[in-house]
Amino acid sequence: MRLLFLGDVVGRSGREAVGERLPALIARYGFDFVVVNGENASHGRGLTEGHYRDIRAAGADAVTLGDHAFDQRDTLSYIEREPVLLRPLNMPAGTPGRGANLIEGRNGRRVLVINALGRVFMDPIDDPFRAVEAAVAAAPLKEQADAIVVDFHTEATSEIQAMGYFLDGRVSLVVGTHTHIPTSDHRILKGGTALMSDAGMCGDYDSVIGVDPEEPLNRFLTGVPQSRFEPAEGEATLSGVVVVTDEATGLATYVAPLRIGGMLAGALPDL
Ligand SMILES: [Fe+2]
Ligand SMILES: [Fe+2]
Repeated sequence: MRLLFLGDVVGRSGREAVGERLPALIARYGFDFVVVNGENASHGRGLTEGHYRDIRAAGADAVTLGDHAFDQRDTLSYIEREPVLLRPLNMPAGTPGRGANLIEGRNGRRVLVINALGRVFMDPIDDPFRAVEAAVAAAPLKEQADAIVVDFHTEATSEIQAMGYFLDGRVSLVVGTHTHIPTSDHRILKGGTALMSDAGMCGDYDSVIGVDPEEPLNRFLTGVPQSRFEPAEGEATLSGVVVVTDEATGLATYVAPLRIGGMLAGALPDL
């Protein structure tokens, strides 16, 4: 299978890049399944139903979230009826929505998508390792899932690497989100799991992690908030990772970063 994962969509410029570029990318590479992290799509904070529908219409088979999952109040009103919209799995029991789901892709094959929050330099949350392990055990690779994608939303590269080794041989891809900065450590572990510490964002990199630099700079220099954070509005770089899985095992045979448009544009994957 050919899988595409896109990191945090930030604001209008990120949404426009997804809307304008994702359909052509799917046509060009023949992706069987696309996951997009949408936690910052609505003015940098959360995901309204309208913007969720825009990302789905562009070609996302599943949309994941993160620590900003419920920044838009309206998410509470639609998340329960959207089985392919996933908030972090390890939020407190009773949180609306779901954190993992076995989702049918466009060719009938099924992908288990899992969203989890980390705990290093993050707000307190339940153990992501045991939560993800239980979700994988409920729909194991090749027994129920043709591929398994884990979006591990956290700050520290060490925690993501550990999750990758924890799940090596049991899932197709472990990819970090949340820092908004793409890493160059994409590789396939010995057991066959593709790992990348952060997919990067779909947003304008002429910014401080997607935010217009003026107010973040002000807060670092003075400690006194002057205004709200505003998403940067220049051309976005679509950032993510491409994985090809073996049909027999569901494990990765190819992994490459993808960065198209804007300030961080890179070479296209050689597929
Ligand atoms: Fe984010
Ligand atoms: Fe985040």
